[in-house]
Amino acid sequence: MKDESARLGLPSYKVLGASWAVQRAVAALGDDRPRTLVAATDGNHGRAVAHMARLRGWPARIYVPDDMVPARREGIAAEGAEVVVVDGGYDDAVDLAAAQAGEDTLVISDTAYEGYVDVPRWVSEGYSTIFWEIEDELAARDLPGPTAVAVQIGVGALAAAVVRHHRPGPALLVGVEPEGADCVLASVAAGGLVEVPGPHLVESGADLVVAVPDSAARAAMRDLAAAGVVAGESGAAGLAGMTALAAAGTGRPGPGDRVLLIVTEGATDPAAYREIVGAAA
Ligand SMILES: Cc1ncc(COP(=O)(O)O)c(C=O)c1O
Repeated sequence: MKDESARLGLPSYKVLGASWAVQRAVAALGDDRPRTLVAATDGNHGRAVAHMARLRGWPARIYVPDDMVPARREGIAAEGAEVVVVDGGYDDAVDLAAAQAGEDTLVISDTAYEGYVDVPRWVSEGYSTIFWEIEDELAARDLPGPTAVAVQIGVGALAAAVVRHHRPGPALLVGVEPEGADCVLASVAAGGLVEVPGPHLVESGADLVVAVPDSAARAAMRDLAAAGVVAGESGAAGLAGMTALAAAGTGRPGPGDRVLLIVTEGATDPAAYREIVGAAA
């Protein structure tokens, strides 16, 4: 298990992508005069972009869906960013953020859209740090690599990093999505790109994609807590997916597998964590 609950002072791995993408995007501009960094987010990516702006002494403006829990908004505001609550969901936030691009405003999106692919690619490249660190650690302990890897899928940038790192290669790659936003599963089932409510266009390099209900992610949070690991719902979803797959009787993952899980976040919503796990993070 790779624990990403404390990464560069933030409670998720997202800053690995945000930091590299900001660096590359600024380098591509050819000068580093201050600009406002803009992002849309469901929580962690925007907080990471806000953090990078703060380190540069630059302003940040982060667009968030109107149903985002206060703790996540506060986490972004605590980085000194302006938080704009959009009248709508995540996709509306992405659209609004994209429309801000300009002379003095640099959009750092982890979601690709028409005419905007470099920055999301850099975000995904930044995430590859996770997998090189795992290689280093395994080599230092003289251990073999994983035979099965679970990866949580949101917009797909982390999954792209998993696929890049493990392909070509024999490891079973399992994408895990929340039941309410199973875009990759829908597109695999359809055999091509599809649109599920909201324009999340995705393509899969994974062997299997499993959609898990929130209740399974919560059960995985409790299992991880019992093992001394603090994980939020998205952070625990990889375990939930692998557990569901093992229970489905496909034989994979099975006793011969070495399974890699990535705990992608800690308790990013402490009140929810307390309620779900029955103890503070
Ligand atoms: C904690 C956590 N895990 C996993 C993911 C999925 O990553 P991606 O959006 O790159 O697919 C996200 C982002 O949405 C996240 O915040």
